[in-house]
Amino acid sequence: MTSDDALLDDLLRLAAAGGVEVDLAPDPVSARSRWSPAPLVLVGSDQAQPCLRARLPHRRRLVLVGRSGQLDPGRDVADLMGAEYVAVLPAAEPWLVDRFVECGPDRANPVAARVVAVLGGRGGAGASVVAGGLAVTAARSRLRTLLVDADPLGGGLDLVLGWEQQAGLRWPALTDADGRVDASSLVRALPSRGDLVVLSWDRGDLRSLPSSAMAAALDAGRRACDLVVVDLPRHLDDAAVTALQSVDRAFLVVPAELRAAAAAARVVRAAAPHCADLSLIIRGPSPGRIRAAELARTLGLPLAGTVRPEPVLGRGLERGEAPAADGRGPLAALCQRLVGELTGTAPGAA
Ligand SMILES: Nc1ncnc2c1ncn2[C@@H]1O[C@H](COP(=O)(O)OP(=O)(O)OP(=O)(O)O)[C@@H](O)[C@H]1O
Ligand SMILES: [Mg+2]
Repeated sequence: MTSDDALLDDLLRLAAAGGVEVDLAPDPVSARSRWSPAPLVLVGSDQAQPCLRARLPHRRRLVLVGRSGQLDPGRDVADLMGAEYVAVLPAAEPWLVDRFVECGPDRANPVAARVVAVLGGRGGAGASVVAGGLAVTAARSRLRTLLVDADPLGGGLDLVLGWEQQAGLRWPALTDADGRVDASSLVRALPSRGDLVVLSWDRGDLRSLPSSAMAAALDAGRRACDLVVVDLPRHLDDAAVTALQSVDRAFLVVPAELRAAAAAARVVRAAAPHCADLSLIIRGPSPGRIRAAELARTLGLPLAGTVRPEPVLGRGLERGEAPAADGRGPLAALCQRLVGELTGTAPGAA
């Protein structure tokens, strides 16, 4: 998006070097319909202010670009726009060519990973355990998996895996003053074991997560991994909404109890508008003998599966044993089926 002819000439030359065609919009009005679907958006420094005024929706892979001298200081306006990068030409020319190459038709899809979210219908529903189980199961099947903790009040998802002592960065260290994360080095800096990587909260003071940080983390996970699993809070903050909007599938975990069903109905109303594929995981037992299918009908969601209480699993969690780590039991079986459905791999391939 630019009406600066000299800048446009430079960008067309770089796009040609990267082997992609450019869709040109002189201003935000004509860019609006193409803004969200485009794999990469460059906004010329001449259009930064009009872009801000137009209040276009937040998007990933947004670059503010200009020539040296035009963009100083560019950071402030880029932050306001939600731009991930500022490219100052001519120094950033090789970098921009690489970004164009990534979008080109001959490349494997750089955003191929599946992204799935789990949230609970009431507090303590078992959502974090299901999220952990899905991630562990996928990693056991040799799928490179990123497990993302999107619940600042959850106590740290690393604890669900028994990874409290595992070296690597947590959210607070990854979000600097303005909440920006360096996507390229993100996955390498996180705690990992085998094919599983975790982006967790720590046990420090409560901080909110900017949606730009969540978007950048998911983007990095998509690029580096086969599957991204997001553990969402029930009360959806901006970062959680950003995550929910970018998932392929989301699961709502609901205990088969009357009050849980009532609470879950509210969560459904908040979450469903952001996610086309939301389905239900019912957690037993049901003291009032509510049937899973009945609960699904009441909540108006398809039933993805059920989990039974596993005392061994509950005790193991307290000792730092990750859910579904041995591949046995009802939770592991459910996770194997869901990971298979999500990634097209055979269930239980591990
Ligand atoms: N399949 C299971 N079998 C036995 N116990 C379980 C199972 N799933 C969860 N639990 C127990 O329920 C507790 C709460 O689970 P979890 O933390 O996953 O819930 P949540 O929905 O994420 O809660 P929060 O509202 O805090 O996010 C766990 O600490 C564990 O003790
Ligand atoms: Mg939780």
